[in-house]
Amino acid sequence: MVRLNKYLADRGVGSRRECDRLIADGVVKINGKTATTGMSVNEGDHVTVNNKRVADMQKKYYVMLHKPKGYVTTVKDDLGRKTVMDLVTVDARLYPVGRLDYDTEGLLILTNDGELANRLTHPRNEVNKTYVARISGMLSEQERKQLENGVLIDGSKTAPARVKILKKDQHHTRCEITIHEGRNRQVKKMFEAVGKEVEFLKRVAVGDLRLGGLKRGEYRFLKDNEVEYLKNL
Ligand code: URA
Repeated sequence: MVRLNKYLADRGVGSRRECDRLIADGVVKINGKTATTGMSVNEGDHVTVNNKRVADMQKKYYVMLHKPKGYVTTVKDDLGRKTVMDLVTVDARLYPVGRLDYDTEGLLILTNDGELANRLTHPRNEVNKTYVARISGMLSEQERKQLENGVLIDGSKTAPARVKILKKDQHHTRCEITIHEGRNRQVKKMFEAVGKEVEFLKRVAVGDLRLGGLKRGEYRFLKDNEVEYLKNL
């Protein structure tokens, strides 16, 4: 015997809170009868949501991976390079949300929730992505402002960004840059536009979700509140 909201959440219908809402909305049935909050499910019960059998639904997984460099962000690679899929062992077909370059490391979300993946990568949703970049040479205050206001890459100006200098010496500058577009090789091209080369690039956050102490190559499942946060972005 298990509580109905847990039964639904475990099968990927949504977070427990979302499942409570579905129950309250009257769209959940147990053995053909509309369920109410607090009910339990017994073995052999026939549970439906919007008349679709829950047992047939696929559990949804949400994973945060610390992608190391030297991995491609695709499910398969024609050149036989290692892919991020080699790092995540989950019994479902996950796919990466957005992409990071072969030589970029950092936060990558993987999921089999196609709807969330589409929402997060759709340009209209403008999800902030924060990177730490080490670049060649010293970044001047003027160049920093230029990057923030927008620079020309591939024939069009980038949207406003936030650029913070973390550390600099004669040879390198370490910056944190937050962008909300997702253009191809965008960060590298932005620095190229002000004559600087990115030597190291790491994504440290997507929205408020931070990589934290996750080590290179490690992954963890997102918590319910983190999934909810992404769904509401
Ligand atoms: N910008 C880049 O240039 N590369 C990445 O991998 C991500 C953002």
